Amino acid sequence: MTESAPIDPTATDAWKQLEGIASGFAPDLRGWFASDADRADTYTFQAGDLTVDLSKNLVTEEILAQLLALAKAAGVSERYEAMISGERINVTEDRAVLHTALRRPAAGSAGAGDLVPPAGFVIDGADVDAEVHATLDKVYAFADRVRDGSWTGVTGKRIETVVNIGIGGSDLGPVMVYEALKPYVQPGLEVRFVSNIDPSDIYEKTAGLDPESTLFIVASKTFGTLETLTNARLARQWLWERLGASGAIADDDDARTAAVAKHFVAVSTALDKVAAFGIDPENAFGFWDWVGGRYSVDSAIGTSVAIAIGPDGFHDFLAGFHAIDEHMRTTPLERNVPVLMGLLNVWYTNFLNAQSHVVLPYAQYLHRFPAYLQQLTMESNGKSVRWDGSPVVTDTGEVFWGEPGTNGQHAFYQLIHQGTRLIPADFIAVANPAHPLKDATGDGKAVQPGADVHSLFLANFFAQTKALAFGKTADEVRAEGTAESVVPARVFSGNRPTTSILAPALTPSVVGQLIALYEHIVFTQGTIWGIDSFDQWGVELGKQLALEVAPAVDGDAAALASQDSSTKALIAKYLSLRTN
Ligand code: F6P
Repeated sequence: MTESAPIDPTATDAWKQLEGIASGFAPDLRGWFASDADRADTYTFQAGDLTVDLSKNLVTEEILAQLLALAKAAGVSERYEAMISGERINVTEDRAVLHTALRRPAAGSAGAGDLVPPAGFVIDGADVDAEVHATLDKVYAFADRVRDGSWTGVTGKRIETVVNIGIGGSDLGPVMVYEALKPYVQPGLEVRFVSNIDPSDIYEKTAGLDPESTLFIVASKTFGTLETLTNARLARQWLWERLGASGAIADDDDARTAAVAKHFVAVSTALDKVAAFGIDPENAFGFWDWVGGRYSVDSAIGTSVAIAIGPDGFHDFLAGFHAIDEHMRTTPLERNVPVLMGLLNVWYTNFLNAQSHVVLPYAQYLHRFPAYLQQLTMESNGKSVRWDGSPVVTDTGEVFWGEPGTNGQHAFYQLIHQGTRLIPADFIAVANPAHPLKDATGDGKAVQPGADVHSLFLANFFAQTKALAFGKTADEVRAEGTAESVVPARVFSGNRPTTSILAPALTPSVVGQLIALYEHIVFTQGTIWGIDSFDQWGVELGKQLALEVAPAVDGDAAALASQDSSTKALIAKYLSLRTN
């Protein structure tokens, strides 16, 4: 199916039915809940440890039936099967798409009913599962050595700070997961993340570090990314200068090479380029072309996380992904959470004209999750052509955004509650906080002495989805004694769709489950839209032009003269302002 043209979803009967329902659609969450005592039950599903309540979405039995028919017509299950069995569904790069293989248990440790890879599952000449587990073993052995202090810096000091240098998928996944799992980080170890080529980033992230106890991980799938390689050179320079200045190493090439060997490791698919940079391939961890950058935190790209939380924690993290992979593979579409969430996104985007989607973790440790999802969703599904090169026939790719609750409540929720745009929202919370603090005194009014602060926090999580769904009518506002002139401003229309995701605790497994959930939501939408969710050609032009413009910015008059008038004037202004 991968080489055949995608179906035209708009030509399906389901699409036409949905268009019919959408024209003149008058959602009525108040009425739907009032007339159906089972609505919450009917639309609440379980995927792994995630309880997912879809009941406050603008969905009825009739809409859901048509969305499911659309998924069947587009072959969502068949394409998922094609993906996990190694078909080259990333057609524009002619690659298989096998991130699900990264978290498949090793042969012999699969659970009952688990997908067991065929012995010798070979892609591009490599036995996929054997290589995945050999690499994981190598990462785990290295992580153990850093954690137990047997891997030391060049002067014999144990490593206290790991600095991951990478960008995009080689940064956003590791930093998001590290932040999410802070309570699991080994005391005495810290990981910092450098991504931006803005020199302020590496300056700030190396500030105050002891070079003798610092380890750099250069993480780059291609090992050709300008930002990462520039930062890696700056880090190497920093190391040599600092170690040299304190007399920790001699002023010669052998000493510098020895320092790199103990303070630099790399993660890449291009091990030849790693060696050319001066990093011993022995200290490099590989992965494969069939792992997209934004799908790679569960590969060796997660080495910084494996060091921080340890091999056991990383194993649980991978098991979380796998639980959702198996849910996606084996659960009928009617109860398949990623498929249902992907279909709802299609409903909002293509039929109700939603243009963005907000993700609101009520868990401060997930504060980088929306940023992580921006790459996952928008680099995957922000496309205007389909996998056969033909133009898309529908809108694609919503803008994903978000911030943790309750911070967002005091910033942008106004627009979600009362603005003119439809913004579907995902609310994410965990039942058990890492730090169950009590407010000993309370405020004597709303907050009682001894109040559990996490419950106070989650009261907001529950209240917000209620307010968005059911709103507040003009009569309810009036009944509060509000002056008539202010009533309209205080009315809440309701019928603003939300999904509530609740997990027991923010464990490594739950973080893996959340990531896999969104990966498969992206997959579902991409399949309906007929797009290759695994390439990212849209990032290339800017990269190419930056290299072309660089000489002009560096003062080359001929290069400056060849720019368009706006760019020329901007660069000239920059050069005139630059004083240091
Ligand atoms: O520019 C986009 C991109 O190619 C992402 O897809 C990728 O995650 C990121 O750059 C970093 O690439 P690399 O890991 O090869 O350095």
